[in-house]
Amino acid sequence: MDAMVVRGGRQLNGQVSASGAKNAALPLLFATLLAEGEHVFYNTPRLKDIESTCELLNLFGCETQRDGQVLRVKVKKLKSLEAHYEVVRKMRASILCLGPLIGKFGQAQVSLPGGCAIGTRPIDLHLEGMKSLGAEIQMENGYVVAKAEKLRGTTILFETTTVGGTENVMMAAVLADGITRLENAAKEPEIVDLAQYLNKMGAKISGAGTSIITIEGVSSLKPAEHEIIPDRIETGTLLIAGAITGGGITVTKSRPSHIQSLIEKLRESGFTIHAERDSVTIEKSSAWQAVDLTTAPHPAFPTDLQAQFMALMTQAEGTSVITETIFENRFMHVQELVRLGADITPKTRVAVVRGHRGSLQGAPVMATDLRASACLVLAGLVANGETRVNRIYHLDRGYEQLELKLESLGASIQRTH
Ligand code: EPZ
Repeated sequence: MDAMVVRGGRQLNGQVSASGAKNAALPLLFATLLAEGEHVFYNTPRLKDIESTCELLNLFGCETQRDGQVLRVKVKKLKSLEAHYEVVRKMRASILCLGPLIGKFGQAQVSLPGGCAIGTRPIDLHLEGMKSLGAEIQMENGYVVAKAEKLRGTTILFETTTVGGTENVMMAAVLADGITRLENAAKEPEIVDLAQYLNKMGAKISGAGTSIITIEGVSSLKPAEHEIIPDRIETGTLLIAGAITGGGITVTKSRPSHIQSLIEKLRESGFTIHAERDSVTIEKSSAWQAVDLTTAPHPAFPTDLQAQFMALMTQAEGTSVITETIFENRFMHVQELVRLGADITPKTRVAVVRGHRGSLQGAPVMATDLRASACLVLAGLVANGETRVNRIYHLDRGYEQLELKLESLGASIQRTH
């Protein structure tokens, strides 16, 4: 079982670059199903989730070809419109094929993703949105079976802000008859990136990045080319890696404006941050204050950086109250941090973190999900002695060679089998 071994006590300094955003790349790849021909993506990250998505596209009958950070997707006449459980259970974002398949072909069979470590992750809002557009949705043996003559534009109000739901319904609506208006839409930068690509393909989408997105249906789309935005969660993780060791680092090829909420929290905690358009620098610091944190939809503090920030708060001066409002079970990393000696009291959706600088002792810990694994690596950077993070395959889903990036900044970190 792969593990990451981190030896604590090294200060991280220097410069590192961010990779393309996983959570932008995944919907972009599914959007290719809307137009036959060759789609080209630049700044594509090398991640397990991207490989899984290419596997699924190949099963549909597409041809995917990788050349460094360039990914070409040749969409031909599809030979299948079914996303099997074996693929979907490995990567729940596969559900994002539903919208393009219904929108383009009027039918789809997609396995229900099932839950995951951080929560039940329902897709009811995705399905409600498709039904509002006129799709017939049945559940059969664990699969969503969808049929639609021709989708018709309508107004859809999401009762909960949902990133995937907004993306899925937006992709279904681009070829519908008439105008679709999404209300209480998610505003994440990845939604904006997807809308920009769809518009390059010939779609007519306006308002992406605000809570009201308007989609005027068109009759057909064509393939295009696109540079994937930098990964804001990786950028934030790297900044916190510098911060937690008291070091000064710069993350290039990033988009600091996409993590303004993290930058403000780090400044509130006492760090000095310089943000340019495509790079961000955190200055060395010998001490920082505990700050309270509440996760919420963009532009508020992202849930995907909650675990990493909690690691930083274990070393802060004072007590930090961290509230997780997006997922019902996103504190799986707390008990692992406690194993390292952190002083944390978890409640239902709130964790009280009492900071003690230098209090962590290296130990074997278990990664439970993608961002928890990053949190434990960050804690290992400051724990005394050696921390072995087991089940590190979780990390590989969303971080491109994180250990090499951290090593280039001065960390002592090795992958073992
Ligand atoms: C996306 O997941 C991201 N994944 C997640 O990143 C991220 O944590 C999440 O958005 C929130 O920002 C990708 O983009 C591939 P949601 P998604 O729908 O779309 C509830 C990572 O670490 N909900 O915005 O699944 C849901 O239970 C991953 O990179 C419904 O109730 O998240 C949650 O409480 C983890 N019904 C809330 O909405 C639905 O139909 C937000 O979920 C859909 C969602």
